[in-house]
Amino acid sequence: MSWMIWRVWKFTILPALYPDEPKAFPYLIPFIGHASAFFNDADGLLTRGREYFGETREPFSLTLAGEKLVILTSAQDAASAYKNTGSLSYDHFVKDLFQTYGVSHTTITRMYQPPQDFSNEKASSSNTLLQTENPSGKNLCHLQSDFYKQQLHPSERLDTLGVKFLGNINEHLRYDRISANYEVTSSKAQEGTNFKTISLYRWCREVLVHSATQTFFGKQLFALDPNFLQTFYTYDSTSWKLLYKYPRPFAQDVNTAKRSLVSTLTAYLTLPSTSRQDASWLMQTLEREQRAIGIDTANIAAMMMLAHWVINANAYKLCFWLLAYTFHTPSLLSKLLTETAPAIRSSNDVDMAYLTTHCPHLTATYHEVLRLTSSAASVRTAEAPTVIGRKLLRKGTKLMSPFRQLHFDERIFGPDAQRFVPERFLRDEGLVRSKGFRPFGGGTTHCPGRFVAKQEVFMFVVVVLHRFEVRLAGGTQTFPSLERKKPSLGVMDPVDGDDVLVEVREGSGI
Ligand code: HEM
Repeated sequence: MSWMIWRVWKFTILPALYPDEPKAFPYLIPFIGHASAFFNDADGLLTRGREYFGETREPFSLTLAGEKLVILTSAQDAASAYKNTGSLSYDHFVKDLFQTYGVSHTTITRMYQPPQDFSNEKASSSNTLLQTENPSGKNLCHLQSDFYKQQLHPSERLDTLGVKFLGNINEHLRYDRISANYEVTSSKAQEGTNFKTISLYRWCREVLVHSATQTFFGKQLFALDPNFLQTFYTYDSTSWKLLYKYPRPFAQDVNTAKRSLVSTLTAYLTLPSTSRQDASWLMQTLEREQRAIGIDTANIAAMMMLAHWVINANAYKLCFWLLAYTFHTPSLLSKLLTETAPAIRSSNDVDMAYLTTHCPHLTATYHEVLRLTSSAASVRTAEAPTVIGRKLLRKGTKLMSPFRQLHFDERIFGPDAQRFVPERFLRDEGLVRSKGFRPFGGGTTHCPGRFVAKQEVFMFVVVVLHRFEVRLAGGTQTFPSLERKKPSLGVMDPVDGDDVLVEVREGSGI
């Protein structure tokens, strides 16, 4: 009886009393709400919610273990949320993230303190960028977003980093460096043909994560912990548990991996900086600025772990899906081979400018694969009453724009939105600028790594296609399925055990 009263109150009377507020998607168990459905298939739950309200795409709310979350499924509403930097903030999310990762309360406070609070503190803080190149007086947390842009947006700094990064990919992507980490031992390749059978997923992961880690952090991490990358892979595939505060007893894998990564990074930061000169400008700057406001090594390591993850979590998965679609679509493979051939100058020289300006099929496929496989979301918190999509969000409301809800909108992408159509972004060149295409988010949190991500993916794909002879092992394979059950925070993984096995040998090209 009391359950009936609760249901009627919650889902009939309250919406009638507050028609301006987003309606709650009904659920059965008070407090728990949609939590178990969310952890079982987040996108499926969001789609059911959207359909429940008659496809109006008005904002609606979910309840996840007592917490209300407003969902935006219309491209227009997502765009309004990105634009609203006045009352919608990202800080709550970052502070919560820092806390989850064990960053101390004092450190979080310092990261958000205005620069003048440190101006008299220590001589070492006076010639930092926080004090000298910060005309609008940002706190260090906000200024760090600028450091990312200064390193990763098109500029001389990006050129320097790009040359190193592409050089590392080129070096790791060689037949004689194919490692036991991704070579499949039960090789079905014929004797005497020099074909090695390898896991495409693990190949992309090993080469790209190794190359990026070396480019951004230098070589010392590998010397300190030869298993650093393996631990990162465990962490990466279970990181959703930390983010969504999964019960601790079921999250031992991610916590153990996180502790190990932070401990290696702590040892790394304890080395004299002279032995870490091969790290990128970005990492050196973040460390120097954080030290200057009195943050200790353990806390810098915890934040650096997050940076390493952000840098590495998505590109290798995207590469995997792009190549998976390519090897499963012979007509696309042949177009990409022809179109990209002129970019190959020599074994050490791939013309990146040519790839990004003269290869429309590669670019269109890149966008289509991003559309289909990204499951990230932008999150904000209303710091004051805010109207989005004619709905009023009270102060403190958390909101989320899940990209898959936009990327499969048939009004934007057409009736074949569910399918992989490599020419989709060629058919309509305006799509890439559509408000409904947000693989890198938008507004103040628009991914600063999008330029370098494109370069690394293009480089990897093109070197694989031209340096090796590659074929699907066994001739045909079932296409891998996207992992929909675990909540994903970026480009999605394939279902456990799904992969593309390829037979690879040295080609006649580069
Ligand atoms: C295919 C690869 C990548 C994808 C799909 C991707 C996607 C995203 C997305 C969706 C966001 C959140 C946007 C939002 O909240 O609105 C983001 C943020 C971010 N990304 Fe990427 N990213 C990729 C690669 C990279 C790389 C290679 C780097 C660095 C080298 C990077 C650095 C960052 C940073 C620092 C942020 C946080 C921005 C902020 O909060 O101010 N990303 N990325």
